[in-house]
Amino acid sequence: MNEDSSIVLVLADKGIGIDKMYVKEVFHHYFRVPTGDIHNVKGFGLGLAYVRKVIEIHKGEVILQSELGQGTTFTIRIPIHDDAQ
Ligand SMILES: Nc1ncnc2c1ncn2[C@@H]1O[C@H](COP(=O)(O)OP(=O)(O)O)[C@@H](O)[C@H]1O
Ligand SMILES: [Mg+2]
Repeated sequence: MNEDSSIVLVLADKGIGIDKMYVKEVFHHYFRVPTGDIHNVKGFGLGLAYVRKVIEIHKGEVILQSELGQGTTFTIRIPIHDDAQ
């Protein structure tokens, strides 16, 4: 989607969702939502930290909307600069 002078990317899933108390923390390095003793999904907790970093460098923003047990939507907006066109 090209909205005004931004690129907007919307990524949605119908997964387990993210509790409101963690929506900030999932963007921190090495943070993974605690699941007790069950480790059935592999990862290091780095993906979203890099996503946020790259978006920051491009002066964009990422909005996380999530409903526990329903799914998650990430909306990424990156401005298009005149000198990049
Ligand atoms: N789409 C999603 N649905 C539910 N939880 C998610 C989703 N994306 C990320 N998370 C939660 O946020 C944590 C951090 O995500 P991420 O930085 O991608 O690291 P990783 O996937 O390596 O664990 C994940 O461990 C998970 O707990
Ligand atoms: Mg990940």
